[in-house]
Amino acid sequence: MHRVTLIQGDGIGPEITKATVQLLEASGVTFEWDRQPAGVAALDAVGTPLPDATIASVRETGVALKGPLTTPVGTGFRSVNVALRREFDLYANLRPAKTLVTGGRYDGVDIVLVRENTEGLYVGYETVIPVAGDPRAVAQSTAIVTRHGCERIVRFAFEYAVRNGRQKVTICHKANILKAASGLFLDIAREVGREYEDRVDVDDVIVDAAAMKLVLDPHRFDVIVTTNMFGDILSDQIAGLIGGLGLAPGANIGENVALFEAVHGSAPDIAGRGIANPSALMIAGCMMLDHLGESVAASRARQALEATLRDGTVLTPDLKGNATTMEFADAVCRRLD
Ligand code: NAI
Ligand code: MG
Repeated sequence: MHRVTLIQGDGIGPEITKATVQLLEASGVTFEWDRQPAGVAALDAVGTPLPDATIASVRETGVALKGPLTTPVGTGFRSVNVALRREFDLYANLRPAKTLVTGGRYDGVDIVLVRENTEGLYVGYETVIPVAGDPRAVAQSTAIVTRHGCERIVRFAFEYAVRNGRQKVTICHKANILKAASGLFLDIAREVGREYEDRVDVDDVIVDAAAMKLVLDPHRFDVIVTTNMFGDILSDQIAGLIGGLGLAPGANIGENVALFEAVHGSAPDIAGRGIANPSALMIAGCMMLDHLGESVAASRARQALEATLRDGTVLTPDLKGNATTMEFADAVCRRLD
């Protein structure tokens, strides 16, 4: 039995976590879920978006499955997702994206994006500077990049590539313009890359060119390693290549804690209607099973999900079907062999 912290999340969170829990339990693994609130749901219930009890639970279990959390734009409380990554030093954001549905723009896309998850512009060192009576005349956001941070994320990417039989790691950067922050990342990434060059191919691409090349020829990419904000943006783009955010999972991994979630957000536009696609969180759930050493159950669940998506008769509206979230989840569970 595995004890796991379960954070339902906001918006479509409760709907897709319910579907995912159903699949994970049907895969043959027993869980003890420690259900904890976070985000807007927690703010409404206990007055803070990230309660101490939720943090304590994640610290104790070391593994969390999390629905998306709403973050107010521009004003309001800071992102709970970012706070959790910082609290547990979840430095590696692993975002695999694979074509699972036919009839999309591209066939056979299989890209793993490894994103540095704790540094860069997202550290939140921000100030607004008043000038001559204008209280918001100048805004300043500072990116923090460290040798230690670069080294561990690049090493994570290469180790992942070696362990999973991947051919190539592409370093994405903007060192031509951001010579300090991105330059440090590129130098260290090349340095670490040399240690692996007998086992994995290495190349580097400037991030804007990478965005274009991803659209023109996604098959030239295998594993991508990059800094925080570039990784955030590119992973949504890559999700688009494989049919949308409903299919893109992610893991946030640190030394002591791993937190599994979808790449997408709380989708307020469709929340409460029971039509969200739970696939991304289900795949994240399979990554969690692997992490827990339950690789047999993980591949059973993955195969059932992939077969349901390939078959195409029961799909949610984002994939041009008309099934509800739970009809889709039931269809996946029926396919478990
Ligand atoms: P979003 O990812 O929630 O939605 C973007 C579009 O994709 C919407 O049209 C939505 O309906 C659709 N979509 C997303 N997931 C879907 C699914 N599973 N099935 C079907 N359609 C899906 O991004 P948005 O609207 O920019 O953000 C909404 C909120 O989510 C914000 O408060 C944001 O801060 C938060 N967010 C949270 C994340 C997390 O918890 N890790 C990640 C990204 C955003
Ligand atoms: Mg994002």
